[in-house]
Amino acid sequence: MKIAMIGAGYVGLVTGTCFSELGNCVLCVDNDVEKIKKLKKGIIPIYEPGLDELVHKNTKAKRLSFTSEIEEAVQVSDIIFIAVGTPPKENGEADLSSVEKVSSIIADVMTEYKLVVGKSTVPVNTGKWIKRTINIRNTKGIDFDVASNPEFLREGSAINDFLYPDRIVIGVESERAKSILYELYKPIDAPILVTDIESAEIIKHASNSFLATKISFINAISILCERAGADVKKVAEGMGLDKRIGSDFLNAGAGFGGFCFPKDLSAFIKIAEDLGYDFRLLREVEQINEEQKKGIVKKIRENLWNLRGKTIGILGLSFKPNTDDIRYAPSIDIIGELIKEGVRIKAYDPKAMERTKKIFPNITYCKDAYEVCDGSDALVFLTEWDEFKNLDVKKVKDLLKTPIIVDGRNIFDPETLKEIGFVYTGVGRK
Ligand code: UDX
Repeated sequence: MKIAMIGAGYVGLVTGTCFSELGNCVLCVDNDVEKIKKLKKGIIPIYEPGLDELVHKNTKAKRLSFTSEIEEAVQVSDIIFIAVGTPPKENGEADLSSVEKVSSIIADVMTEYKLVVGKSTVPVNTGKWIKRTINIRNTKGIDFDVASNPEFLREGSAINDFLYPDRIVIGVESERAKSILYELYKPIDAPILVTDIESAEIIKHASNSFLATKISFINAISILCERAGADVKKVAEGMGLDKRIGSDFLNAGAGFGGFCFPKDLSAFIKIAEDLGYDFRLLREVEQINEEQKKGIVKKIRENLWNLRGKTIGILGLSFKPNTDDIRYAPSIDIIGELIKEGVRIKAYDPKAMERTKKIFPNITYCKDAYEVCDGSDALVFLTEWDEFKNLDVKKVKDLLKTPIIVDGRNIFDPETLKEIGFVYTGVGRK
């Protein structure tokens, strides 16, 4: 099929590339001309494992191409995916101006049937607004359908999540739209759930909000464990063995970040408010997450006493492993707080240092973890990159000025480190 993917960001670029990998002809569109220029040269603007190989393979096979001309892409495509950004406004509401703009252009340009599919994470009833926007401008009375096809991609495993999803959700209003999307997703071995458009839109926000709730729940339990002398890893293990709970997303840590959970939570709370419901539970999920980040600074202060003038080594800046993304990463708030207290920061992250430099140009960026340790008064882990799990902890101890570790992602076993002579603090650990 011929697909126009409007928006070549974390979602659009991965989704468009994967659709081309399935044999479709995909035109990725973005209004960022520089980004399109780079993509045409095979330069990928984001770090996503496996993406560059897939982009190069499908560009070479002429199934995948890039343009900043949205009109051209709409004209030549049967299916148009709207994958533009829906960033949060000041009040937490999703900014849908780009979605409206794209919908208007589609209406103005189309000369034959089009299936317009909402891929971006959008508030419920956005599909209705897309349809209304196109109808008003569709002076030629061209036949079209609108559908919702939310994505469930995790950064760092987005390609795998696309090709091997737990489920595919399609919100449709016509048999024609349903059969087109069935055909498109035929090569993927996963259950396809067909719903109305509104339900599909809510499934996305509800899923992300539930996952964030699970994380804040275990983070709250970690506080109880610290006060009761229990071990949150054991508690999570015991809970997770119950199939109704499951062990995924039960890892206590420094809090959740990324451009999805925080943004989707605030959007969903706002959506509920507009529908006359005060989603208190989700506001508490947000609150617990903020406190979890503050809790890491508190642990550092409890170990170091006076912070001013001290040097702290930070390992891990990205919001999670296997990504260079630092949006809403706990590291940003935590480093900001430490700098305010007069702390000197040394940091290392395998992928996210370039992006962090734009926010914190004055901290010391190191070439590896050991350089961070050298001369630091304490070492703080904020992202559980695999390479940190294999550190030579004896070498770390020798390099640190004082053998203090605050393990914000429970990477290490407390007993092992204490036997080596570390003063070790985890999250909810005995
Ligand atoms: C999430 C959803 O998982 C995905 O389905 C949706 O499409 C987009 O949002 P993503 O934000 O990429 O994906 O990352 P995810 O793996 O969900 O982690 C989000 C945050 O939660 C990270 O900061 C991670 O460190 C944190 N997290 C995750 C925990 O603190 N504990 C956990 O057990 C799991």
